[in-house]
Order: sequence, then C-alpha cells, then structure tokens
Amino acid sequence: MRTRELLKLDNTGHPGIASIFSKAHSADWDIDRDVDWSTPVGRDESIVDHEWTAFGRTPTFRALPDEVKSHVNRRGAGRILNILQVGESVAQDVCAKLALTLRAEDHRNAAVAQAMDEARHHLAYRRFIDKMDEELEDIDPMTEGMFDELLATDDPLRMIATEQFFLESMAMSIFEGLHRHATNPLLKDILGLITRDESRHMGFGVLYVAAWMKEASLDERIGFTQRWLGQILFSVTDRPGPLMLQRVLRRIREAGYTDTDSIAPAMLREQEEINRADQEALLSGRATPQLLKSARNVGMLAPDILEALGASGHPVLRAALRMEEAPVLS
Ligand SMILES: [Fe+2]
Ligand SMILES: [Fe+2]
Repeated sequence: MRTRELLKLDNTGHPGIASIFSKAHSADWDIDRDVDWSTPVGRDESIVDHEWTAFGRTPTFRALPDEVKSHVNRRGAGRILNILQVGESVAQDVCAKLALTLRAEDHRNAAVAQAMDEARHHLAYRRFIDKMDEELEDIDPMTEGMFDELLATDDPLRMIATEQFFLESMAMSIFEGLHRHATNPLLKDILGLITRDESRHMGFGVLYVAAWMKEASLDERIGFTQRWLGQILFSVTDRPGPLMLQRVLRRIREAGYTDTDSIAPAMLREQEEINRADQEALLSGRATPQLLKSARNVGMLAPDILEALGASGHPVLRAALRMEEAPVLS
C-alpha cells in the first residue's frame, strides 16, 4: 500500500453500510463501565437453565437430580463460551485483514469498527470464563478446521461470506438462545450487549454480499450459492443425535451418575420426537433461522438460482421464501 493509493479513497455510498459505521459509535458500550464484573459466578452454578443444553428438554434428562443437570449445563455452556472466545479472536484477525484488503472507504471503516467490537467481545468472554474458574472442554475439530480455513484466505469476498455472512448469521441463533436461557445475570448482560453488536456485523455481511450478487453474472451467483447453500441447509437442520448424546452422557457420568446405559435409549428416542417437532416448525415457516433469512436477503433464494441448482422444491427453502420480508438489521 502506498500513500497515493489512499489519497482519494472511493466510497460506495451505500446508506446501510454507512449507518453501520455510525451505529458502531452510537450503540457502543464500555466493557468496564457497562458490565458489573463483581457479579459472582458460583463454582457449581448451572449459568443457563436446564432446558438450554442438548437433550435438556427430554423428560428423562429433566428427571435427573438437579446437581447432575447443572453440571451438564455448565460443561456445555463452558464449551460453547470457549468456541465463542476463540471465534472472536478469529473474527478480529479477519477484520484486521479486511481493513487492509478492502479498497472502498466505507468498507474499510466497517471492518475497523468491527475489529474493535470483536476485541471487546473476546475480552468479555475471557473474563467470564476466568470467573468460571475451571478447565473447559476443548473445541471440536470441525469448528477448528473451519476457523483455520477462514484464517488462511486472503480473498475479501470469501472472508466476508464466511465470517460476517455465514458464521455471524449462524451465531445469532446461538447468542439468542444463550441469552434467553442464561440464568447468571453477568452472562445475560454480556450476551445482550454482544448480540447487539453482532447484528451489525451480520448486517455488513448481508449488505456486502447482496451488493456483490447484484453486480455478479447469473453463473457467478449460481456458483456462489452452490458453495454456501448446502452448508446453510446442513446447519439449520442439524439436530442433537447419537454423537451429541455421547458427549452429554459423559458429562452426566462426570457428575457422579454412572448408570447412563439405562437412560441413553429413552433420551435419544425423546430427543428424536423433539427434533421432529422442531423440523415441523422449520417447514411451516414458524421458526425461520437467521441463516435462512440472511440467504434470502442476499438474493441466494432467487427463483433462477434455485432452479439452476435443482433446489426449487426444497421444503426448507420453500418455507423460508413464504415468510415475511425480514429487515436486515434489528
Ligand atoms: Fe463478536
Ligand atoms: Fe462479530
């Protein structure tokens, strides 16, 4: 980069992207002043209600002793918080790289503002985890592989599509779920503040990709959608199954409840019933995940694209298309 290249930066003039930068200031929060870090996190505190965890809604899990349920919850929430804290650092790296790669003035500014938010989010999760004062379960190889792939790319569209569009849309559902179920007031507060920032980040991803789609040829749009649609559909239809059950059973045993063989079949059966009900809600359009709303908002679900991909009849996509037009930013 040379001074000459910075002398007269182009600005796309996109009003939505400009407003994201303003909101980064007007909706800012102070990690020390706006969060009461003296709020305690108990040694055996559940931190989220028992329903939040995978299999937490099954009658068999609900019948377990409270201390067992609390342990399972705390381990599960700790694992997610560990993924989130490292995910924030990944996002910070991506934004720093984007700030140096993107050429338009407003894009650079949005990336820099987001980098600042991600630094604060990382710090907030880190501080909360320190207050939990325990060794957390490791992050899973699939998540780590996805983060590694993202960190290795230098292509701005790929970075934005992965981070702001895909990961942050997917994370919105995780944040909202955690925030709704959080029982520890400190966790609830930081999740509320972080989610507010994340909706701006996701907004930038949606607006950037939507603008790119408008300029792209039909073939490019089809190629881009093909690259992402399978992953989006996998993510929104993924439900707790046998693999997750093993993880939950391990946590139950850690809590001193050793007879997990006798409860495993019932838990799986009951969860499958819950999964079916969730799937029905998805197909009816009553519960449209943010990822599908984002896919729709960038134009990925346009009839010509879905037709080219042979996906016009996909029941989940049809349900997403029936829903009301959702605003990009809440
Ligand atoms: Fe973040
Ligand atoms: Fe973010």
